[in-house]
Amino acid sequence: MRSGGVLEIAARNQDLDAAEARRLNHPNAAHGPYVLIEVQDIGAGMADEMLEKIFDPFFTTKEFGTGSGLGLSTSLAIVQSHGGFLNVISAVGKGTTFQVFLPALRGARPAEAPRPKVSQPAGKGELILVVDDEAPMRLIIQRTLEMGNYRVVLASGGAEAVAIYAERGGEFAAVITDMTMPMMDGLETINALRALNPKLPVIGASGLASTVYGPKLARLGIRHILPKPFSGQELLIMVQKLLEETRSPDVA
Ligand SMILES: Nc1ncnc2c1ncn2[C@@H]1O[C@H](COP(=O)(O)OP(=O)(O)OP(=O)(O)O)[C@@H](O)[C@H]1O
Ligand SMILES: [Mg+2]
Repeated sequence: MRSGGVLEIAARNQDLDAAEARRLNHPNAAHGPYVLIEVQDIGAGMADEMLEKIFDPFFTTKEFGTGSGLGLSTSLAIVQSHGGFLNVISAVGKGTTFQVFLPALRGARPAEAPRPKVSQPAGKGELILVVDDEAPMRLIIQRTLEMGNYRVVLASGGAEAVAIYAERGGEFAAVITDMTMPMMDGLETINALRALNPKLPVIGASGLASTVYGPKLARLGIRHILPKPFSGQELLIMVQKLLEETRSPDVA
């Protein structure tokens, strides 16, 4: 919603009877209990021709360099891997509702939420440069690293990261960079930073880690790849490993 608007996110239990399940016309839509998560906007909405394509990988109407067209195909894959399905209700000019149906287990007791194990903060105040075009992501990574006793400098893109590194490069113990970014992507960012310091320890974070970026990062000799979404624990463990290996490279 470019000019603002209301985004509603709701969750509830929803029993589908056989008729409703048929009406939804989806192979995973059997009758039974579901948890329904609804995300509703009052944005542009979509016409039927568009709705047919939105789950296709790389289908995007965003300007070149701003969208990967992978948001919805990734969401669909995640929902389906949980045995669920998606339903979209949309009208041009009125907005869109995405319904995520996840099969519910009857009578199951909620599992106890795993407690985040931040046993001992592993950091010794090392300074980490974090590059990500998404502000919420930068904030989460920053908070996590600070809980792990690292210090953090944020950059919202490759150019900013290079500018910061050119000025204060000597202070940084490592860089964590997102791979999918507009303008300069993660690979270009890493190449530019490595031109300033060929030995710079790098973690590449990406939702496409294993498929698209894994081999490319491997060619740059980068073995620390963090698949998104990652937990705080996974992030801290990877940073700790990277820094340990940097301190004693022959052990790595
Ligand atoms: N809530 C919505 N309202 C209107 N159009 C939408 C909505 N969600 C998705 N679309 C349309 O579907 C297309 C594909 O969405 P998808 O999330 O897969 O990729 P993207 O948003 O273009 O890129 P990315 O998710 O990488 O930022 C969008 O480009 C847009 O045209
Ligand atoms: Mg998207």
